[in-house]
Amino acid sequence: MDIGIDAIGLFTPHWYVDLVDLAHARGDEPAKYTIGIGQDQMAVTPATQDVVTLAANAANQLPADSLDERLGMVIVGSESGVDESKAAAISVVKLLHLNPWVRAFDIKEACYGGTAGLLAARDFVAAHPDKTALVIASDIARYGLASGGEVTQGAGAVALVVSAQPKLLVLHDDALAYTEDIPDFFRPTGMTVPVVDGHYSTSAYLDFVGKVFARHQSQYHDQYGDYAALLFHLPFTKMGKKALAALAPAMNDADHQRLTERLAAASQLSRRIGNIYTGSLYLSLVSLICEDKTIRSGDRIGLFSYGSGAVGEFFSGTLQPDFPNRIDQAGIQQMLSARVRLNVLEYEQVFTAQLPLGDADATVPVEESTARFSVGGRANHARWYRDQQQEKGV
Ligand code: CAA
Repeated sequence: MDIGIDAIGLFTPHWYVDLVDLAHARGDEPAKYTIGIGQDQMAVTPATQDVVTLAANAANQLPADSLDERLGMVIVGSESGVDESKAAAISVVKLLHLNPWVRAFDIKEACYGGTAGLLAARDFVAAHPDKTALVIASDIARYGLASGGEVTQGAGAVALVVSAQPKLLVLHDDALAYTEDIPDFFRPTGMTVPVVDGHYSTSAYLDFVGKVFARHQSQYHDQYGDYAALLFHLPFTKMGKKALAALAPAMNDADHQRLTERLAAASQLSRRIGNIYTGSLYLSLVSLICEDKTIRSGDRIGLFSYGSGAVGEFFSGTLQPDFPNRIDQAGIQQMLSARVRLNVLEYEQVFTAQLPLGDADATVPVEESTARFSVGGRANHARWYRDQQQEKGV
């Protein structure tokens, strides 16, 4: 039985910073950011958005027919959640008025949490083919003002509906994971930004790429010629180039050229949104579908997921005939072109004006935005959320 991704929704906040502006402010060469790191812009998160609202807004962008009474599981993968205990997935069920007869929970393993959710959902649907699952990878990547990782920040969420007979991507039964305890990235409880050894994390990622691809090929006898595109977790787009370059010596020229061109298309949205941690690999899939008009139904796509700490996993899927219509491509273009560019001072003010940690009552000023869901504030220990549709009586 075919199981896989039936539809995808994407959401990113309505503010961004241009990285040439940021380079000037930090005294760096703009080319370091745009070429050396491969980023042009990064999403800036207003206090009105957290991983719950990003997730609910992404699910709200799904095609209308994709969530119905068959829904049996809701998973949020995130490494920037707002509660140490309660699952963001429960808030998503409430905000979207989903069928309450579902299993709802979160998964944490750095940027790998979305993939863990997707593959758990695949197994769930394999056991219950009459059910579907909603998996949302939702994150805000914050490293700190003027930090080494600042240029690789971003925010957004990708919602994936998993079903039998999926209309977008059939997942093959070829997922291969590798886990090793690596000290590359931590965010100890109570800290708002991670402790990261950036250069070490990059080399650990590449080490995992080498190990996982070599074993996948020996176990599943796949070759680079089998793939129309290889997608990678993109903390910054140069990372994808480095991963492909690490594999290139074993490729012929035609495969290398095709995979390079497709990776460039798959990197376009990351260049504009930045790192969205758990969602970055799936942002890259959305980007491939929106930006590359040469991919076809029947094409095999390989996906490499990496979560610091660390877990790496490679798996593949085949595009289905209706794949271009299972993402609101026009809506994504509209969302991006409606974004407002902040100057660096405005970005710095927004960065420090987030709802503070803790449980004190607070109100977040209402923000002019097209997002359906936003953070209202905190009362009686819990965050509360606004639903623009409900407030307008839609
Ligand atoms: N023109 C063109 N290129 C230039 C340049 C210029 N004027 N100046 C520098 N560059 C190039 C450098 O040569 C370098 O290229 P290579 O990597 O190909 O050698 C690149 O720009 C970056 O330069 P530096 O290494 O000097 O940059 P940095 O010290 O500021 O660190 C970083 C970059 C490590 C990515 C840092 O931003 C960081 O720590 N980011 C967060 C951690 C991260 O993203 N790790 C990725 C792997 S872990 C993971 O994937 C999980 C996750 O999501 C976090």
